[in-house]
Parts: sequence; C-alpha cells; structure tokens
Amino acid sequence: MFNAKVYTERRNRLRAQLGSGLILIPGNAEASYNYPANTYHFRQDSNFLYFFGLDHPDLAGVIDIDENKDYIFGNDVDMDDIIWMGPQPLMSDQAAKAGVENTAPLNALSDFINNAKSKGRKIHYVPPYRGETYMQLENLLGLPVSEIKNNVSVELIRAIVKLREIKDEYEIAEIEKAVDIAYQMHTTSMKMAKPGVVEREIAGAIEGISLAKGGPVSFPIILSIHGETLHNHYHGNILKEGRMMVTDAGAETTMHYSSDITRTVPVGGKFSPRQKDIYEIVLQANKKTIDATKPGIPNKELHLMAAGIIATGLKDLGLMKGNVQDIVSEGAHAMFFPHGLGHMMGLDVHDMEGLGENYVGYDDEIKRSDQFGTAFLRLGKRHKPGFVFTIEPGIYFIPALIDLWKKEGKFTDFINYDKVESFKDFGGIRIEDDILVTETGYKVLGKPIPKTVAEVEETMRK
Ligand code: GLY
Ligand code: MN
Ligand code: MN
Repeated sequence: MFNAKVYTERRNRLRAQLGSGLILIPGNAEASYNYPANTYHFRQDSNFLYFFGLDHPDLAGVIDIDENKDYIFGNDVDMDDIIWMGPQPLMSDQAAKAGVENTAPLNALSDFINNAKSKGRKIHYVPPYRGETYMQLENLLGLPVSEIKNNVSVELIRAIVKLREIKDEYEIAEIEKAVDIAYQMHTTSMKMAKPGVVEREIAGAIEGISLAKGGPVSFPIILSIHGETLHNHYHGNILKEGRMMVTDAGAETTMHYSSDITRTVPVGGKFSPRQKDIYEIVLQANKKTIDATKPGIPNKELHLMAAGIIATGLKDLGLMKGNVQDIVSEGAHAMFFPHGLGHMMGLDVHDMEGLGENYVGYDDEIKRSDQFGTAFLRLGKRHKPGFVFTIEPGIYFIPALIDLWKKEGKFTDFINYDKVESFKDFGGIRIEDDILVTETGYKVLGKPIPKTVAEVEETMRK
C-alpha cells in the first residue's frame, strides 16, 4: 500500500468535488470458478484500491460527505478463518493503513445505508461489473438488479475520472515497474518465437514471468500467428516460418498497476521484405504519434494522424490509392486499422473502463465518432500532464472483412482489392507502448523494449 495519507487525501479530494450524501464503494468478493470453493485469483476492485487500498475480499468503503467521515465495513477473522487463511490483522489496524478510523462488521452496512436512506440522503455509487456486486447493491439499495445501472451517480463517475486520470509520481513508478516486467515478458517471447514451437508454450512462459515478478497478467495474453484477430486468446497454433507473431501482454504489479505492450515479430527471427514493408509503416505510426504527444493535443488527433500514416504507407505499397485525407475522413483505412490508437492505463489496463468509456475518453468538447474504426477509439479527449495511455497502431489483413468490403464494392476508389488479395495470408502487426504525458511532452514508460527491425532481429538472434 501507499502511505495512509495518500488514501486520505484522495478521499478528501473526491469528497470536495461532490455536493452531499454518501459515497458507497464496494470491494470485490471472491468469484467462483467451477465450484463454489474453487475461486478465481482474487482481484480487488480498482476504485476500492484507489480510495481504500486494502487488497482482500468482502470489504466496503463509505465516504460520508456531509459528516466528513470515512468508514470501512469488514469482518475480523474468526478461528476457522485463522485455521484456513492464517492470522490476519484486525480490521481497525488494516483500516488505519488507509487512514480510516471508523470500522464496522460488513453486516452493519445494511443498517447504515438504510439509516441514510430514511433521512433522504443520496447514496452515490458507480456501475457494478460483477454479479456479486449487483446482488449486494440490490440488497443494500432496495433496487431491482435491472434498475441498478439507471441509478448510478454520474457526479461520482465524473469526480473519480478527474482524480484517477492524473497519475502521481508513486503511481507512475508502479506503472514503470509493470512495464519493466513486460520487458522481460516480451524479450522472452521474441527469443522463443521459433518454428515448431506451440503458441501456448510461449504464452505460458511469459505469464509465469508476470506471476513471478508481481501480480498476474493485466489481461489475458494475446499471442498468435493470427494477429489479424485483434484479441486472439487461442494459443494452439504451431509457429511457422513466414508468419508474424503478435504478443500483446502486460503485467500487474503487486499493487495492481498495469502495463500493456504489444510487439510483433517474424517467426524464426528474420523479417521478409514484405513483412518489413508493413512493419515499418506501423512503426512510423507508433513513433510519430508518440513524438506528437503533448498536453493539449486531442488523442483523437493522434489517432487520425496514425490513420494518415498508415494510409500513406499502404498507398506507397500500392494497397491503397487516392487522396490520403479523403481516405481517412471517409474511413477507408479502417479495413486495415479497425481499432483505436489507444486507451488510458492505470489500475485497470483499460483504465476506469467500467465507469463508462465516454466518461473516461471523451468530454463536452470532443465527442466519439460513429464511423467504423474511429468509433472504437476509447480515448479522444485532450491530453493533460499525468495522463498515462497506450499508443498501439496496427495493420491487419482480415480475410473475412476484405471479402465483405470487396463484395459490397466498398471504397473501390481507395482500396486496391487485387493487390490486397495477395496479402490475405499475411496476418497482422501491432506495436504498443505505454506513454506518460509530461508538462512539456511525453515519456515512454519503462525500460525500452526492442522495437525497430534491427532491435527485434538482434534480440531474436540471442
Ligand atoms: N490489451 C488489449 C489492448 O491493447 O487494448
Ligand atoms: Mn495491448
Ligand atoms: Mn492496449
């Protein structure tokens, strides 16, 4: 945990943004896997971690705005718990580590909330994302599950985003640790990418690095010679010479800050001329948008810049044609780059996504596009110092999408379908880094992970 003062200050800053009422922040419960007592690895709720820090199940935090008091509801362990889990500190001692003086057993929460409701006080809460939390809120608030999402506090969502989107120096140090773990994961993946190896041998090895160095992985590993499938979690292919292998993987630190890095390498260690051609375009899109990062620039602008670089590169190779500005404004590039340039990152790998993507990534000034491709951009608004986000352009040859658009005669002014046909066996390339926005520009977080053609080939030779 951070120092208790960090949590007290965060809660005070949250309280100061809201008018009145109670803020209810439920922690997570254990979630069962294949029978009740066999649970998934426990993951605490990120808002609970941010404001209360404690990392175990069955806790709830309450910030009373009007009374200026904070509470943690949770049970002291009994002898049965001690026998199975070992001794645990008293709740009051744990709460003190988060700067909280008031504790009560978890079953006292219901009376506490009922008392506040009976006085007509507002209970602020954010959208839940687990069944257990839905049921808990149903009981506490007396609302049917179907009404829980309709009654969330937009005021609270906006206030949390305002705090969590600006990372302090301690959080940045944690994220850098997570990227440094990803360095180990990715360089290991590169060295293992030899013909005959099964994808899961590599995926398993690098997941083990994450587990050995910190928390679990920050999201299920994407590792495939079919990188054209954006979130490919199937790891059963045998690596073959001539394919590119995408590894999109990151770690959580023990404090649950994440990293999210993608590298794409030629199986066997040497790029073919065709692979190099496409790789260099993605690399330019990655590097130039990183270089353009500074406070005030909208991330949507960086996304469209990447789209322009990709369209220009594909035009130079004869895969696209026509005016690049028109390609981008009409969205023809999205056949090759059908996702957003990136997203915020922090305690969640898609930071705060559970609060609602548009509250995190957009604002009154910059609205989400509804055009295929750019519509999937999670972060569009202007950058501020302290933002941590990903830059992850890619080029993909998705046979089903190519076939569909060709059949529909879509963008025939911009896409050379005949040439694209010959790339249907290519796969995909994505290159992703984690970036901090500084007062004057940017910092690529963590130890630099091999990225140029020469660096990747050199690492794979070792
Ligand atoms: N790790 C999934 C993504 O890059 O957003
Ligand atoms: Mn990723
Ligand atoms: Mn990402």
